[in-house]
Amino acid sequence: MTTASSAVQTPTPFKPRIFSGIQPSGGLTLGNYLGALKRFVEKQDEGIETIYCMVDLHAITVWQDPEKLRYQTREGAAAFIAAGLDPARSILFNQSQVSAHAELAWIFNCVTRLGWMNRMTQFKDKTAGKNAEAASLGLYAYPSLMAADIMVYHATMVPVGEDQKQHLELTRDIAIKFNNDYGVDFFPVVEPLIEGAATRVMSLRDGTKKMSKSDPSDQSRINLTDSADNIAAKIRKAKTDPEPLPETVEGLKDRPEARNLVNIYAALAGHTVDQVIRDYAGAQFGTFKPALADLAVAKLSPITAEMNRLMADPGEIDRILGQGADRADAIAQPILERTKDIVGMIRSRKG
Ligand code: TYM
Repeated sequence: MTTASSAVQTPTPFKPRIFSGIQPSGGLTLGNYLGALKRFVEKQDEGIETIYCMVDLHAITVWQDPEKLRYQTREGAAAFIAAGLDPARSILFNQSQVSAHAELAWIFNCVTRLGWMNRMTQFKDKTAGKNAEAASLGLYAYPSLMAADIMVYHATMVPVGEDQKQHLELTRDIAIKFNNDYGVDFFPVVEPLIEGAATRVMSLRDGTKKMSKSDPSDQSRINLTDSADNIAAKIRKAKTDPEPLPETVEGLKDRPEARNLVNIYAALAGHTVDQVIRDYAGAQFGTFKPALADLAVAKLSPITAEMNRLMADPGEIDRILGQGADRADAIAQPILERTKDIVGMIRSRKG
């Protein structure tokens, strides 16, 4: 891969536009909230054009029960709105309703090199210990679809958690190769936005593992649907070490569980890690954990309540997703058509 691209932030002549996506492949976690949703809403409030997507085409790269997929897609959309996303200001839709994603992904499949795909660590992680030959072709090609999601809007910025960094580097490489292959300056070189204290929220049971909806232990994560009691109990039982909190941020080094809880506190409170350490220097976890639990409940419970309220009216969620898809399609189609012209495809159908 030509990763020179990931080092420099290339200024582009493209209009600033943000795109990001979340898979409806399970319930959402505190990691999704702090690493993605909360930041997505902040971007909307910065006045940049924002496009957000429940990526159902990505979800089916591993088997999904159809009823659950529909439910989880609506629940994800409800989480966006409950977290503060305004569907009138941002575009919110589900990926499969805008066919340009899949069409551009095919063109990108023909630009992307097998060697690049072979280096994708997420495919390796998802098939580790399993028979990789039995994985779907979709799972393997997944990062190419992700590049298409972003490029079909000429998006210039993508807020994500740390785990998506390699996919965004690949997106840059695909855009650069397409532009070089066809002698154009058509696709922007996207900028990953991986910022803040919670770009990698870790498991509550093991501070070296990412908090994930697919972890078999429910105790390892806080779900956006957890009750207040459940949230407090999970934080109380979170793994820690026996030392009090350090006097300086450097003191968190080699203390992954302590660092994780401090990062979560900082992100929920909107403080820097430095501030949290100053406030709790020398505190025992017996003091810090209840404070974190209170903060987490205060921030998350209103979101959970709003999600539940929205989920009582699935028709309204579908209407919002449909309207979002119409608006997304209006941006994506002309970009897809210009791509086809560049590639040399005849477009002569009327209507
Ligand atoms: P997904 O569905 O796994 O996660 C959605 C977003 O949540 C972030 N995230 C986390 N952030 C911090 N700590 C964690 N423990 C944590 N877990 C998840 C992810 O980084 C992500 O930002 N491939 C993507 C979906 C996707 C996409 C895209 C994203 C498809 N097309 C185009 C951006 C642009 C994924 O599986 O995210």
